[in-house]
Amino acid sequence: AQHSNFVSRKNSMGVNFSNDNELRSLAEAVNSHAGPWQAAPLVPGAQANGLTVEVTNPADRRQVIGSYVAGDAAMADKALANAVAAQPGWDRLPAASRAAILEHAADQLEARRGEFIALCVREAGKSLPDAIAEIREAADFLRYYATMARRLFGQPEQLPGPTGESNQLFLNGRGVFVCISPWNFPLAIFVGQVSAALAAGNAVIAKPAEQTSLIGYMAVKLLHEAGIPADVLQYLPGDGAVVGAALTKDPRVAGVAFTGSTETAWAINRALAARNAPIAALIAETGGQNAMIADSSALPEQIVKDVISAAFQSAGQRCSAARVLFVQEDIADKVVGMLAGAMAELKVGDPGLLSTDVGPVIDADALKILVEHAARMDKEARKIAEVPLDPAATGNGTFFAPRAYEIPSLQTLTREIFGPVLHVIRWKASELGNVIDQINATGYGLTLGIHSRIDDTVQFIQSRARVGNCYVNRNQIGAVVGVQPFGGEALSGTGPKAGGPHYLLRFAGERTLTINT
Ligand code: NAD
Ligand code: ALA
Repeated sequence: AQHSNFVSRKNSMGVNFSNDNELRSLAEAVNSHAGPWQAAPLVPGAQANGLTVEVTNPADRRQVIGSYVAGDAAMADKALANAVAAQPGWDRLPAASRAAILEHAADQLEARRGEFIALCVREAGKSLPDAIAEIREAADFLRYYATMARRLFGQPEQLPGPTGESNQLFLNGRGVFVCISPWNFPLAIFVGQVSAALAAGNAVIAKPAEQTSLIGYMAVKLLHEAGIPADVLQYLPGDGAVVGAALTKDPRVAGVAFTGSTETAWAINRALAARNAPIAALIAETGGQNAMIADSSALPEQIVKDVISAAFQSAGQRCSAARVLFVQEDIADKVVGMLAGAMAELKVGDPGLLSTDVGPVIDADALKILVEHAARMDKEARKIAEVPLDPAATGNGTFFAPRAYEIPSLQTLTREIFGPVLHVIRWKASELGNVIDQINATGYGLTLGIHSRIDDTVQFIQSRARVGNCYVNRNQIGAVVGVQPFGGEALSGTGPKAGGPHYLLRFAGERTLTINT
């Protein structure tokens, strides 16, 4: 039964990049949507009277693409009251009815992908392939959690018992869930959290990242049009320290699904723990300090191809991105030389052009952190390569030149570097255990890439490295829903894995019904 549930669902189809007609019609669809986009809180019965925030294009800060009205603490209060009142009715719906709405939303999202892709490019600075991947992953989450809701919530589990007694285990929604998402997957993660919480029978207040509030608004409007009631799913944009904090300290919240930095996850954990209220569920998916390990049996061409995409795709703004390549000494010179050559081919610029490999970083704050890190590395490390920026293509945006440095040890990196910077560390054959110790000592545990053609080496590394997602002889980004359930351990997250078979259970309560027949 479990198997048939998995095969009945198909992941979303992408775009065939070798089909000119398909690309042309996609480009037309994207170009026909240039904004301006407007958003405001979707909280029934509340007056939007917060600050209006202007949204600019990360690739060209002179372009205002829209604006949104930020929510505040009073609006958070009203949203919670609405959600508390609406949740029981939503929870009582058959799981199949909730699932059908989510599946309808997935179809609508694909049908209207042009506008969503345009917004992912212009608000989040996503490249076209990344923007298309956002639509696909969001649709996959909607359908996957719908499938899982039917399977897990459809019928109670019948349990054994003595003659004359019936025992059943029911799953139900926990109550009100607050979903707090990051800007780097503004559609996929936003929709993933929200759809899981809804599928399990919860009412949801969705708080998008400040930088990508327009995309969140469009997604919520689409879900409402697909059939989710307005008080079951509410949209509340705004400052994390104001709106996020007001929501997470409130005793009416039964659970929080959070994706973002480890520091914010700590703040939310503290806020939830300080409440005089039932203990809430916290699902936190957080940062990483991800490594790729290559030994001398690996193919240098493959290592370079995979580390280039793992470190520089999405301008390195993926939690899964490779930050450090540990390369065995025997092949290090060759790999480093090829890496510099491959980086020289990277094109940095307008993410709306298919020829672009690396787009802008999300905002001036992110750029500042990267510039400061580069200044430190320029003093303390050996620069391997820096991709020159063309001022005509990048001068008005928040662009950062991709670069690679050779560093002595992972201890040189004191925090997650969230951008297109790769670090390279050489290791000797006798030092493999020490390499794994360095990775584990970061305290993070998200992704790890292994490049080796020696099975024992792969087994040695993967059985000792404490990471959530380990990829062998390929890159380490782009987990696919239902194929590579995604999420880390330790400082990288609480689990369960997004897009995996256990995710919905964390959003659910359990009730046992025993009847003496
Ligand atoms: P962030 O922690 O700054 O913000 C994330 C969200 O938290 C935003 O919506 C923000 O408004 C909100 N927030 C901020 N302060 C808050 C508070 N006190 N209370 C409640 N909410 C608050 O993260 P970011 O910069 O948006 O995203 C980048 C980070 O996300 C990186 O560390 C990256 O590794 C991580 N990330 C992890 C995963 C994963 O699956 N593990 C996926 C994507 C991104
Ligand atoms: N799920 C995203 C990836 O695997 C973060 O790259």
